Amino acid sequence: MAQPVMEWVNVTGDVSIIARESGEVWFHTRGAETGDPFAAPMTGAGGAASTVRLLDGAINLGFAGIEKQLALREPTLAAYVVALIGAYHTSVDTPRNLRRAAARFQELGRPEVAAYLEDRALEETGHDRLALKDLRALGMPGEPLVERYMPEGIKPLCDRFDELCRRDYPIGCIGYSYCLERIAALKQQSDIEKVQALCPQGVDATRFLRSHSCLGSEVTHVEETIAFVASLPANDRISVVQETYRSALVMAEGYNHELLKSDAQIVEELERALGEPLPSLCGAPPAHAGRHDSRAGASVLLS
Ligand SMILES: [Fe+2]
Ligand SMILES: [Fe+2]
Repeated sequence: MAQPVMEWVNVTGDVSIIARESGEVWFHTRGAETGDPFAAPMTGAGGAASTVRLLDGAINLGFAGIEKQLALREPTLAAYVVALIGAYHTSVDTPRNLRRAAARFQELGRPEVAAYLEDRALEETGHDRLALKDLRALGMPGEPLVERYMPEGIKPLCDRFDELCRRDYPIGCIGYSYCLERIAALKQQSDIEKVQALCPQGVDATRFLRSHSCLGSEVTHVEETIAFVASLPANDRISVVQETYRSALVMAEGYNHELLKSDAQIVEELERALGEPLPSLCGAPPAHAGRHDSRAGASVLLS
């Protein structure tokens, strides 16, 4: 009789994530005891039910430090503008980067990985345009703003993806993509409605958010990635889960950075980068009006 699937990955120091096909998942801290069955890397086949738990366990572990702050933040329009700029930057080079990684896997004689990455590149094409359209719908100067401003919390994420896709063995780019898409797919209709409520009546500025939420293509992307990762050999699954964890850490640090800013700080930063006053944020007084201390929050709504 076939053994039920059990998968495990050491993600940080002595902490491993262990998952069973039945749905059980737990974190295991390696002790000094001998005979620890999880000390050696797994070598067996994957299964979708256990692989998804490893991947999601990696995200949970990466975000463990800032969960409370995330839950407390309510969206503001200023923060939403920054989130859209961040969404533009995390989308604009995605197809090119994924195609670079695909070409490398073709060279390595892994046509199935190359085909998966080519598909992803196609699916992600044009998403940067959605963010630009949303910015313009809010009366923002789209191109000049994204050309001159990169949210500090987003830059390390973009750099990481770029670096992962340039590696000699770029399997980690799948973990990065999973992390971003999985978090996007958690966004609910109510999250979108909160942002819509901030926008002036009749303004549609949630194209990117809708498509990167539980209502959009992100759900299918996540499902396809889980099935694909589960089909990979054990050493690749280990690398993908480890990179999912590292990307979650980078993302959590970036969020935390942006979450600490007030609306006044955000508007000031944007205006400094742009070199001119911003159009009024849909009724919100600009930074130089000297009031605003509500905390930024909508950056958590986009990835
Ligand atoms: Fe996308
Ligand atoms: Fe996607």
